[in-house]
Amino acid sequence: MKLRRCTTVMFEPREEVGIDFNAMLAGRTELSTTITWFALAAHLEQAVPVSAAQRELLGSLGARDWTEAGDINCPPADWQPLLEAGLLIADDEQHAAHRLRDEGMRDGHWWPLAALTHRHARWSGVNSAAQMRDSNMVTAKDLRRQLGPPPPAVQVHPGTYQPLPVVEATEYDRLLERRTTCRNFDAARSIGCAQLAQLLQRTVKAQAVVQVDADTEFLKKNVPSGGGLHPTETYLLVQRVDGLAPGLYHYHPVKHALVALPRQCERPLQEVADAMLSGQDWFANAAAHLVLVPRFARTNWKYRNHAKAYRALLLDVGHISQAVYMAATERGLAAFVTAAINDVDTEAVFALDGVTQSPIAIVGIGWRGDTLDTTEFDPNNVVWAQS
Ligand SMILES: Cc1cc2nc3c(=O)[nH]c(=O)nc-3n(C[C@H](O)[C@H](O)[C@H](O)COP(=O)(O)O)c2cc1C
Repeated sequence: MKLRRCTTVMFEPREEVGIDFNAMLAGRTELSTTITWFALAAHLEQAVPVSAAQRELLGSLGARDWTEAGDINCPPADWQPLLEAGLLIADDEQHAAHRLRDEGMRDGHWWPLAALTHRHARWSGVNSAAQMRDSNMVTAKDLRRQLGPPPPAVQVHPGTYQPLPVVEATEYDRLLERRTTCRNFDAARSIGCAQLAQLLQRTVKAQAVVQVDADTEFLKKNVPSGGGLHPTETYLLVQRVDGLAPGLYHYHPVKHALVALPRQCERPLQEVADAMLSGQDWFANAAAHLVLVPRFARTNWKYRNHAKAYRALLLDVGHISQAVYMAATERGLAAFVTAAINDVDTEAVFALDGVTQSPIAIVGIGWRGDTLDTTEFDPNNVVWAQS
């Protein structure tokens, strides 16, 4: 068996504070600090604790050149746990799963720090709504009480600010004013198929296909995209769209068409949405959810090992979400966006591998309900009439 280290690994010393038992036996109450080194790899979901010898070993092996296991310069008791954890990659069948994920990350041309950031910021099974409630951090007043005052809302520079004219509002300004994140969807009302189609057409549909070569196409869309690459795919969870069976879909931006995807489980769709949305039940009953999923290799094809590529990917998703808000608002529909998603669970829903593509945000659309059960940020009472 031949071994190499995985493509991207970095080490982090983590401090843990605990009770000092020696001091306790001597009748004193003292805290002790222990430092454990963790290896963070771009293809592994969890950080792995490593010893000094294991850290050294990983630092001494190449990520491209293979070494015979028999030639490894430390005892198997040191290197075998690294192999099982996936930090060492082997060329045999038994360890193919880690090797394939590692190769997937390597071939994705990630900038290493971005690869680690993406991988280790992922959630699985998190209930962010429950966490907020349990820690009494629901309202703005709760936040102020628990966290003290935030940095000021406006940064003021010394000098005299020259007033600018406030230009008379047009229809576009009135549209912008109506854009308010919806947390009170009408759970009984469907949207029309044409409404969903129009929303997709306005936001993620290709408005032109530019053929650069027989095998190289660029798409023009109504949203900007870093490098013009438009790497973000749209997956849908449809609950209430007339003429569309509730279920999972993928959107084809050139054909402007949806294909139904197999369901991985029989759980009710609202429960599936709630799990993807980390327990944010105020979003889970939107008529349709659009899961925004970049294909990393498309952006990294141009921006290889590039420090700004991941930033551009995130900004792309932000542009799409704003376009969805505006397109929906213009039609009298309501919308939301969230990045507080259970990435791993969302991948399982759509059978995504989490290496070549992985969700960044979920947006949802539907009709706003009649009652304000969950707070929305509408201080000018544009959406909700003053009570
Ligand atoms: C990147 C991003 C992530 C967001 N995530 C959440 C979220 O997890 N939960 C939520 O209720 N709202 C979320 N929002 C909505 C914001 O809370 C909302 O935009 C903000 O309160 C301002 O309100 P407005 O959009 O109505 O102007 C998110 C917005 C953005 C842009």
